[in-house]
Amino acid sequence: MAQKIIKRVTTHVLHEMKLKGEKIAMLTAYDYSSAKILDEAEIDVILVGDSASNVMAGYETTLPITLDNMICYAASVVRGVKRALVVVDLPFGTYQGDSKEALASSIRIMKETGAHAVKLEGGTEIVESVKRILSAGIPVMGHLGLTPQSIYKFGTYAVRAKENEEAEKLIKDALALEEAGCFSVVLEKIPAKLAGELTSKVKIPVIGIGAGPHTDGQVLVLHDMLGITQSFSPRFLRRYHNLHDEIKGAVQSYINDVKRVDFPNEMEQY
Ligand code: KIV
Repeated sequence: MAQKIIKRVTTHVLHEMKLKGEKIAMLTAYDYSSAKILDEAEIDVILVGDSASNVMAGYETTLPITLDNMICYAASVVRGVKRALVVVDLPFGTYQGDSKEALASSIRIMKETGAHAVKLEGGTEIVESVKRILSAGIPVMGHLGLTPQSIYKFGTYAVRAKENEEAEKLIKDALALEEAGCFSVVLEKIPAKLAGELTSKVKIPVIGIGAGPHTDGQVLVLHDMLGITQSFSPRFLRRYHNLHDEIKGAVQSYINDVKRVDFPNEMEQY
């Protein structure tokens, strides 16, 4: 049977995809031009992740990125997108511990960017914020497992929830997020078996990164999968290109052409 043409990916479409067993493909983007390419390629979900802090701004962690920064990236992404669902990360310090602030930050994102949903890291401790954001009609995606905004609490980027106690807490958190009304949840860097169990336990779509093949979908950071970043090489990362070397080679060719006055040639002038 021919696949239904999706004009616009919504949270409802993602639920239908889970029901049909159709996998969800999600990538990050932070700018208009990349988002336009991803959308033309028919990616299902674009995440304006706070990984922008690392790959766009060059910080070591995701903590320094601000709400204003995220709004600027997200608004650029939305201008390039016609089809994909655009989800934006609430950055560190704009929602933790205060559900009113969480709502105010989410409203700014929705109003100033035109994005379709927000993503928050955490489990039971953010349930009140999730409910308050949802009460304003803003869809929320959760994020459990390795939550990079808590890196200083974890102390390491190692796989999470390998031990029973943490695995049980993760399941409890996922059920709490589903119960609170999250439309989907990201699971980062946890054992594949646990991610599979959780995916069949909840009705909402589960998107994995470093969480094995049994989730409802996958997400990667665009700069990592394109090979623009070089030093970040976790086991879960599949590189689809080596753009770092391609861009460097192109820049070196341009430099050579300029130096030997080969560029511009007769056809490239007025
Ligand atoms: O910020 C981000 O890019 C993310 C993904 C890794 C899920 O949260």
